[in-house]
Amino acid sequence: MTLIRRATPDDASVVHRLIRELAEHQDEGWAVTVSVADLERMLARPEITYLIAERDGRAVGYVSWLERISFWSGEDYLALDDLYVSGTERGRGVGELLMRAAAEAAQGKVIRWEVAESNEAAQRFYTRIGATLVSKKIGRLRQALR
Ligand SMILES: CC(C)(COP(=O)(O)OP(=O)(O)OC[C@H]1O[C@@H](n2cnc3c(N)ncnc32)[C@H](O)[C@@H]1OP(=O)(O)O)[C@@H](O)C(=O)NCCC(=O)NCCS
Repeated sequence: MTLIRRATPDDASVVHRLIRELAEHQDEGWAVTVSVADLERMLARPEITYLIAERDGRAVGYVSWLERISFWSGEDYLALDDLYVSGTERGRGVGELLMRAAAEAAQGKVIRWEVAESNEAAQRFYTRIGATLVSKKIGRLRQALR
């Protein structure tokens, strides 16, 4: 049986493991620099939601998001950060359960996220659950302008 529940600061270690799993799956393990202590603090913040999917008591996936506001509509929306299901658990409906829980929590607010152009399997999944996908470039800037 799969249970979806909101993570608390006490779940920081398991959250850290799941985030590393996703990053390693994407060959980006090096990019995870957050510590368990950082996550403990983050999971206490009200604008952050992290839902864990548990099968028979074991954490097998998650969806995470932040509350944001659109300056165009003035409406709040949920900015999805990650959706992940562990390798051996995929294809059993856990991802759909997590997205269903996010949609329920959104209470009519729009949910937005990014998916890599190359991640065709995830794009098929999102289309199947009824999401609209549009292409955009993502801008990033870390230093002073040249
Ligand atoms: C995308 C993902 C969250 C879907 O979770 P899931 O529990 O497998 O999803 P469900 O069982 O509800 O649905 C399975 C669907 O996902 C698709 N899918 C995507 N990747 C898959 C995989 N590696 N194995 C099995 N199914 C996969 C299948 O095409 C399937 O669609 P179908 O039912 O139309 O054939 C999961 O495959 C995953 O974590 N992938 C790796 C991380 C990732 O790409 N996350 C999204 C980042 S934007």
